[in-house]
Amino acid sequence: MVRTNPNLMKRAKWAAGISAAILFYLFPAATFAQDSLFIIPKPLIQQARLGHFTFTAQTQVFSSNEFIGAADLLHEHPYIHFKKIISLTAIKQMPKQGIILVRANQKDTLAQNAYRLLVEPKRIIITAHQPAAILNAIATLRQIAYTRKNGDQIPAVWIEDRPAFGYRGLMLDVSRNFFPIPFLKKYIDIMSLYKLNTFHWHLTDGAGWRLEIKKYPELTQKAAWRTNANWKYWWNSGRKYAEMGTPEASGGFYTADQARDLVSYAAKRGITVIPEIEMPAHSEEVLAAYPNLSCYGVPYKNSEFCIGNEETFTFLQNVLDEVMSIFPSKYIHIGGDEADKSAWKTCSKCQKIIKDFNLKDENGLQSYAIKRIETYLTSKGRKLIGWDEILEGGLAPEATVMSWRGEKGGIEAANSGHDVIMTPGAYLYFDAYQTNPIGQPEAIGGYLPLQKVYAYHPIATQIDADKQKHILGVQANMWTEYMPTSNQVEYMAFPRVLALAEMAWTAEKNKSWNDFQLRLQKHYLLLQRLNVNYYPPSTALSVLSTFDIDKKTATVTITSEQFEPSIHYTVDGSAPTATSPLYHAPISLSATAIVKTAIFKGDIQIGKTAELQVDIHKAIGKKVIYNNSWSTNYPAQKEITLVNGQTGDLTYGDGQWQGFLGDFDVTIDMDTIQLLSQLKIRFMQSTGPGVYIPAQVTVAVSEDGKVFKTVPKSDNDVPYTDPTLRFKTFVFDLKGNIARFIKITGKNEKNGFMFTDEVVVY
Ligand code: ACM
Repeated sequence: MVRTNPNLMKRAKWAAGISAAILFYLFPAATFAQDSLFIIPKPLIQQARLGHFTFTAQTQVFSSNEFIGAADLLHEHPYIHFKKIISLTAIKQMPKQGIILVRANQKDTLAQNAYRLLVEPKRIIITAHQPAAILNAIATLRQIAYTRKNGDQIPAVWIEDRPAFGYRGLMLDVSRNFFPIPFLKKYIDIMSLYKLNTFHWHLTDGAGWRLEIKKYPELTQKAAWRTNANWKYWWNSGRKYAEMGTPEASGGFYTADQARDLVSYAAKRGITVIPEIEMPAHSEEVLAAYPNLSCYGVPYKNSEFCIGNEETFTFLQNVLDEVMSIFPSKYIHIGGDEADKSAWKTCSKCQKIIKDFNLKDENGLQSYAIKRIETYLTSKGRKLIGWDEILEGGLAPEATVMSWRGEKGGIEAANSGHDVIMTPGAYLYFDAYQTNPIGQPEAIGGYLPLQKVYAYHPIATQIDADKQKHILGVQANMWTEYMPTSNQVEYMAFPRVLALAEMAWTAEKNKSWNDFQLRLQKHYLLLQRLNVNYYPPSTALSVLSTFDIDKKTATVTITSEQFEPSIHYTVDGSAPTATSPLYHAPISLSATAIVKTAIFKGDIQIGKTAELQVDIHKAIGKKVIYNNSWSTNYPAQKEITLVNGQTGDLTYGDGQWQGFLGDFDVTIDMDTIQLLSQLKIRFMQSTGPGVYIPAQVTVAVSEDGKVFKTVPKSDNDVPYTDPTLRFKTFVFDLKGNIARFIKITGKNEKNGFMFTDEVVVY
């Protein structure tokens, strides 16, 4: 959280250090002190120069011949208006005025993928080796204009800049919801402003096929249309498709020509479009239209293609032929995720392939299919990319892996010499809530605030030094189950895309969250100017506590999405006011307390009061016996989780919530027989991903661990039909009980996951 911004102070000191006489002669003091540039992602080198450049109606554009195509993008700069680009070859001398795009000469030490942007009072010179770098320089110029109050005048500066990663991606799922081409163009425009260079277009999935394939008209006649526009309703009520043009049909598709047009629109902005055609799973829409390609041979049974049917490969290759004729990208994404392999187990054709090719099992069968597709793509000069499940059963020899189920798949692939794109769910799935879900439009679940995105570093420490080059870059994914409109896509994407952009472009050592936040404030202006429905920083506070078991001390951290807020707090249960202590550093607590806090502007409270009960209780550090173990997928902090003095936050993935399949059943050994007064245990409910509160919690106490006495049970009163994020604390009065062992059970009524974070005992 930002209290005072070190960079702001540095700038002020720097300005003061330069001869005041010169500065005051050239500039009014106020102009200079305030005139900084706020570029995202942060450039590698940026040095202020004296003076300003002013764009006028007469500003001319000059370019080396190689960059004339790229220079055309200057038309999208809000203050640059020119009729024609003047070729530099026709001119003997470097122009003294105007905007000049020059190809770096061979002796220039500028990196191949870098640009140099020199803004002088009379001219702007952009130097690069490659058109892609010129486009990035133009993006910088456009950003500077949009982030200033009067963008027609920009401060002189010298910038030298290049990306940390070559692949800087953003995915959009147009299957779960269909979005019109003008929105995709807007999405691509903004991507290019932030120097992202890859648009991964998730074109096919069970919720609708979205690309015209001339050879298979049923894909767009039927598989592109479903019986209800609302994805969740449709998903829960039969998942049927409808003929295009019938009253119930809802959906859409892109014609091949529209897709081609989008590819060239993106290319002009330095963005490659990678199409994704899902296989072998997430294909129920295809199999509804072409049921002969499924193991059961009937619609609405399988999501997976039948691998044993040769017609499957004929179909996929024919589709890919048309896809490759539309998309010139080196990569073709073939999905590969989340196959349910059960139909293959009982399908005689699939089993015959396993036998004939001496495959180990159904994983081997999946690998066989992916390898065949890879051979096909390679024969056409393309490269296969797939989600990390393509590792199962053995990776295709040249495949690139997109690591989404955490970083594990990516680490494994990189260490075995395969190229990888990192897109781990916990950091880069922008369908998760970005703030407290309460009061937010429904999302898929989880909690991914801006700062967490920003903090992600794509090169995991487990990747061998000589294999780090295989991490080509990063990507964030916009899965749109809960984004029915383009407005909602924007709301979920921004400002998180800006954090992605900086993580992908700016070298790790140059990243700074405080400095990013400072620059971000100006980018809200940019996003407003471009009509982007971004998520505005919340006035809610997040209060989190960690606990040091040895020191028996809790440390409470309060964070805000607001910029430099005045946060006041109390620890005595009273309501915070503007005269309560000002929060400036984490608070240490050595006894149970309730922290209450709010933001103030002068005397006025902004936003709601946040509070956190910090329990420094008797069970901390005690032994927990698991009569039914935690789920291996959600161990949290293992044995210490429930007695570590620490509560979880808003998502079960945060390392404090422990997950259970089956009933919850633990016994706490308090070391000694003692007088007890109260027990509290909290559970979470998030029905989207199948997380439920137990129907009932029971507590029993014992002196010897053998004979237990049950205290009155406590029933859940939170409805299982409530789709919002809910928490329920079960409280037990233990007054008068003397015991050493406490057994707590929770009934898993819904056969889903149950998550709890702490057992508090007094
Ligand atoms: C995925 O999220 N199923 C790739």
